[in-house]
Amino acid sequence: MEPAVWDGKYAGEDFAYGKEPNEFVRQCVEQYLKEPCHVVELASGEGRNVAYLAGVGHRVTAVDFSPVGLEKTSALTRALHGEEALKRVEGVQADIMSWRPTTPADIMSWRPHDAVDAVVLSFCHVPARERRGFVEGLVEMLHPGGLVICEVFHPDQVAKGYRQTSGGPTDPTMMVTLQEMRELLGSSRGTEIRAEEVEYVLKEGKLHDGLGAVTRYLWRKGASA
Ligand SMILES: C[S@@+](CC[C@H](N)C(=O)[O-])C[C@H]1O[C@@H](n2cnc3c(N)ncnc32)[C@H](O)[C@@H]1O
Repeated sequence: MEPAVWDGKYAGEDFAYGKEPNEFVRQCVEQYLKEPCHVVELASGEGRNVAYLAGVGHRVTAVDFSPVGLEKTSALTRALHGEEALKRVEGVQADIMSWRPTTPADIMSWRPHDAVDAVVLSFCHVPARERRGFVEGLVEMLHPGGLVICEVFHPDQVAKGYRQTSGGPTDPTMMVTLQEMRELLGSSRGTEIRAEEVEYVLKEGKLHDGLGAVTRYLWRKGASA
């Protein structure tokens, strides 16, 4: 979908996926990001996860191609957690398929705090043919020990007819199984911390409202990845 379609979904005062963070993201952050970190959320939407992350003290880079989503991210962070939290948020209007943070390779502009401690993917759905390259980009942006925190729809979301209420892409090939997550990241280059296919009742704003099927994956990059 084009950015203008997302701008349309995000028009108005409501928050399409609510103002609270995704529950799996919140659990992972509480348990594994105890010190202030630099977190990147790719496809950050209206910023429910970003606001939460900044509110608990992390520096957050929010990347999305919807300008309306990014404006609402700033407004939500300010409203829930104030100006100091908002200073920790950098909104980047960009295509997640090609965007990269500044890295040590860009030696002239690199600053130590540009290292990424965690990448959040919360209902970030990428075409199947581009998924491997996209995931390689994530692995590159993390320093060793960094985390991928991912909750995305499972193909059962379409097969079982759940998307009528709890949403997601129409095309099931945009969705990801646990087996595929394992093939893309897996245990050879890092450590799986949580890996689940789950069905649960989503209560995340008007677009995620009802029983859904998701794949959850929490992975830590190893020293030699
Ligand atoms: C289902 S929403 C998820 C929003 C947010 N992560 C959440 O959980 O509330 C998907 C988001 O992906 C963004 N998006 C989709 N494709 C993108 C791309 N190629 N580059 C940047 N953003 C993209 C859309 O603008 C939209 O905000």
